[in-house]
Amino acid sequence: MLKIAILASGSGSNAQALVEYFARSPWGRVEIIVTNNPRAGVIDRSSRLGIKCLLFDPTSQSEEVLTLLRSSVDVLILAGYLKKIPINWVRSFHGRMINIHPALLPKFGGKGMYGIHVHKAVSDSRETTTGITIHQVNEHYDEGAILAQYRVEITPGESPQSIQEKVRILEQKHFGQTAETWIKQISKKQ
Ligand code: GRF
Repeated sequence: MLKIAILASGSGSNAQALVEYFARSPWGRVEIIVTNNPRAGVIDRSSRLGIKCLLFDPTSQSEEVLTLLRSSVDVLILAGYLKKIPINWVRSFHGRMINIHPALLPKFGGKGMYGIHVHKAVSDSRETTTGITIHQVNEHYDEGAILAQYRVEITPGESPQSIQEKVRILEQKHFGQTAETWIKQISKKQ
């Protein structure tokens, strides 16, 4: 069974879905949730879920937290983590770090594309579909190998809030299982 750390900066709905999914999985277990944001909703969620939560300052504690993670977990899952992942983190967890992006990469990715900004850009582009992308994290962040994408229909110009709600449903439905399939493959290579 692989040990999972989740990195989050926001409300933590994805982190909660992953904790609950892996509570029933023979392949992985969420051991810790790590956040950079003292106001993140994920802090309350992790205490309600009984999962250790570590708040850290990425500008001054990156090295020590990386050392902790390297010695205590097997894989990292980014679930709404908004800081750039340092290159030594990417190298330490090469092939063992994934991220979820709330759009169909490579479109609507890259700098500044997070949260409601993504859905506003999708709405302004009058797209008729959007979705989520679960991908490996490499040095170029949103450009790692794609593990899976899931789509949902939208109407051109649909409100960003309405799009966000449809995307959240996709996240809740697919993230756990996609992460488990990835973890299974890693386990089998060990
Ligand atoms: C989600 O939309 C996720 O796709 C993106 O950041 C958001 C995090 O939401 N990476 P939450 O904090 O998990 O509720």
